[in-house]
Amino acid sequence: MTTYVIHASCLPWTVRKNPNKMHQVQVKLAERSYPIFIGTRTLDGIATSLGELLIGWSHTVIICDEKVAQTFGKTVKDYLNQTNKRTSMLIVPSGEENKSIANLSQLWSQMLEEKTDRKSVVVAIGGGVVGDLAGFAAASFTRGLRFIQVPTTLLAMVDSSVGGKTGINLPAAKNMIGAFWQPHAVWIDTSTLDSLPDREFRSGLAEVVKYGVILDESFFDHLEEHADAILARKHEHIQHIVRRCCELKAQVVSQDERETTGLRAILNYGHTFGHAIESKTSYGRFLHGEAISIGMTMAGQLAVRLELWQKDCQERQTALLRKFGLPTSFREVPSEQLVVAMQMDKKTEHGRLNLILPTRMGNVRTVSNCEYADILGAIYGNAT
Ligand code: GLY
Repeated sequence: MTTYVIHASCLPWTVRKNPNKMHQVQVKLAERSYPIFIGTRTLDGIATSLGELLIGWSHTVIICDEKVAQTFGKTVKDYLNQTNKRTSMLIVPSGEENKSIANLSQLWSQMLEEKTDRKSVVVAIGGGVVGDLAGFAAASFTRGLRFIQVPTTLLAMVDSSVGGKTGINLPAAKNMIGAFWQPHAVWIDTSTLDSLPDREFRSGLAEVVKYGVILDESFFDHLEEHADAILARKHEHIQHIVRRCCELKAQVVSQDERETTGLRAILNYGHTFGHAIESKTSYGRFLHGEAISIGMTMAGQLAVRLELWQKDCQERQTALLRKFGLPTSFREVPSEQLVVAMQMDKKTEHGRLNLILPTRMGNVRTVSNCEYADILGAIYGNAT
């Protein structure tokens, strides 16, 4: 068993305030390093920043869903139109079930029709589905285009827009096809969350809780203490949690970009269970964060069974997830079927599951020798 720990006290705080109150977190990856800009009501700054960041930029392909096209997509397009660059907007359907081969293929054809070339820049505006799909289109079209992530959901801000994971689902396995393709920048305007439907906001909070459990005990304490203010979407609280999650993720990605040492795999805490739940419910029943909330509860339950972590830690995790209105149990699919679906996880080696399990608040480890009976037991007992 290997234990990975990033102590909050050891983290070089990469955030620096710039004059217009935007925070910047750097993802350090040598020549692929890039900034994450975090601010509120800052979409007007995108065009100028892109001009500074992207040498030779001649054409922008905005990719977003229909709803975003009428709101933030339109705003960004209007600002980009003030530059002398050509701008195209391509609409993709929303929903995890649409992160598919068919939609990717359609996107490639549309990019061709829009005369997209190597000086084009893809700007993905929206949640994780759009970011993953647009990111993979950027990674693959003409063997790789520059791209910018503009996440407008909490889940995308704290997780999927950072770190360069792009891809699509196969019917039986989530995110099975894809590429590591780092963005040139991530632009986070937290005011875009003001209009996010409540269920989606809460779904994002599952990934926020995840960071506390896997890496930062004091952040978990903070979430417990300020849960009501966070649910009320108070801007200073939202900025704080988004920034902290981005810092933690940037630290992990900077050390293990391609998930080769095992460090980055800790970000998948709860995901082996969660992805299986999403797959067995055809990606339509739960939002990603909801499935991850159940997955974290199952993983925690397994860790309790294996006497890796204390029952009171498990209870704190469950209580916080429930406080955020997230589901913590799932019994609609027989546990045996769920375990079969879990084998599709990308961390599986020779049919053996590698599970990320908590050991104490702020710390997890990879466990590869779990008994089948214990996994089944954790699934059955996942509500405790
Ligand atoms: N969402 C997990 C990762 O980016 O590695």
